[in-house]
Amino acid sequence: MKKKELEIILEKLDGFRTPNIKLEQYTTPATVAAELLNIASLRKDIYNKVIYDLGCGPGILGIGAALLGARKVVLVDIDEEAINIAEENAEKFSLGNIVFNNSDIRKITGKADIVLQNPPFGVHWRRADRAFLEKALEIADVVYSMHKRETRDFIIKFVKGLRASELEILPVSFILPRSYKFHEKDRKTILVDIYRIRRN
Ligand SMILES: C[S@@+](CC[C@H](N)C(=O)[O-])C[C@H]1O[C@@H](n2cnc3c(N)ncnc32)[C@H](O)[C@@H]1O
Repeated sequence: MKKKELEIILEKLDGFRTPNIKLEQYTTPATVAAELLNIASLRKDIYNKVIYDLGCGPGILGIGAALLGARKVVLVDIDEEAINIAEENAEKFSLGNIVFNNSDIRKITGKADIVLQNPPFGVHWRRADRAFLEKALEIADVVYSMHKRETRDFIIKFVKGLRASELEILPVSFILPRSYKFHEKDRKTILVDIYRIRRN
């Protein structure tokens, strides 16, 4: 499937209905999700792979991976409402290879080929980004993870401490619609890095 086709499909997925700021709930823009999935697909990190989407929210990354031919996708989120929306989104495509897990990512066990994640940046739950990276690299050797640009130096140092042997970084912009009352503008641009991390 072409990147643009995927983006158009992902754009139609339902987002959070009542986003919870404490869980840093906002959806990855469809343009960015399609970009990440397209790169991962070209790197042969999607087709026929077992993929975990940690902190899946409404499921844009995991459902996208299933649409691109992942063998099995496990969607994990601590928020029951988010998991329900993800299930509804997946039902639109009759995908039989998705498992839904309403759980804290810190409690999950198992093995994956690949983890895809857009974790909380750690603004409201301090160190959330670290907990997600630790868990991701515990269950998979290849991880795609998104982090705020301003934390780049820290993230590079942190993942090297987790025995990451290869690190590639793609800078992107998130253009997010206003989703919380305290947002002053209708749209906000956040500079983000997509990391592909490989551990040996
Ligand atoms: C920034 S949102 C990303 C949502 C989705 N992955 C996406 O890319 O659109 C972060 C998600 O992590 C979830 N989350 C936060 N803390 C969590 C935890 N400890 N365990 C599991 N999920 C968590 C939130 O509920 C939220 O859905």
